[in-house]
Amino acid sequence: MQRGEDRNKELDDPRGDGRVPTVICDNVHIVYRVHGAGSGKGSATAALSRIVTRKASPNVREVHAVRGVSFVAYKGEAVGLIGSNGSGKSTILRSIAGLLPPESGRVYTDGQPSLLGVNAALMNDLTGERNVILGGLAMGMGKDEVREKYESIVDFSGIQEKGDFISLPMRTYSSGMAARLKFSIAAAKKHDVLMIDEALATGDRRFQRRSEERIRELRKEAGTVFLVSHNNNSIRDTCDRVLWLEKGVLLMDGPTEEVLEAYEEFTGGK
Ligand SMILES: Nc1ncnc2c1ncn2[C@@H]1O[C@H](COP(=O)(O)OP(=O)(O)O)[C@@H](O)[C@H]1O
Ligand SMILES: [Mg+2]
Repeated sequence: MQRGEDRNKELDDPRGDGRVPTVICDNVHIVYRVHGAGSGKGSATAALSRIVTRKASPNVREVHAVRGVSFVAYKGEAVGLIGSNGSGKSTILRSIAGLLPPESGRVYTDGQPSLLGVNAALMNDLTGERNVILGGLAMGMGKDEVREKYESIVDFSGIQEKGDFISLPMRTYSSGMAARLKFSIAAAKKHDVLMIDEALATGDRRFQRRSEERIRELRKEAGTVFLVSHNNNSIRDTCDRVLWLEKGVLLMDGPTEEVLEAYEEFTGGK
């Protein structure tokens, strides 16, 4: 039996090596409920009768996207997430970001997690410039800080390389340009826990290099970085640890090279 004080000591320094945990997933299960997935009547009276009788809709289909995932991530770590399409990578990140409650199990995070995804919220009708400013403010920067960093964010994104795009509405951007601007905004701030979901995949090779460099810097600033990428080389260059998810199950968790080797064998080379 463990005493309270022993347990606390263990939580602060679980391996006795001075490493500080930032994200703990403890047997996490996540279930999506898709409404109106099946056939059947969706009439208002049917819905009312379901509410009155408190019966679950017959049209709800459940997708068990994450199945019993457990791991601990530490300060200063860059963790890659790999796995086939639909294996639950984005889902687990959304849950770490606090956007999806687990069905069972627990997610603990120390500090403020930020999820930078392909669908992060930038406003299509506003100019790139306005989005940089709003994005910075939304991440908790002060006005002066935004002003001070504005130039470097725009430079980093490379948006201006093909003309004065920053003063045009975002809807005129290609998806690659939008993704680069998104990454640049998010990467301008120090993050306790930064999660990047395939944001690098859309950039060109030069932009990818710059982003990898920036990820390494963010790591040095003592945060924890999670990176989802289909590019195994990006993972190789950036991460020292990799989690491999398949069908919602954590198949492997270990040093990058070890896990990638197993994964590449599984996917048939490359
Ligand atoms: N909003 C959603 N509603 C219902 N099912 C979803 C939703 N998002 C993802 N899923 C399902 O959850 C599973 C995991 O998806 P996802 O986390 O996006 O995988 P990955 O990011 O690894 O490609 C898939 O079966 C997918 O179809
Ligand atoms: Mg995904």
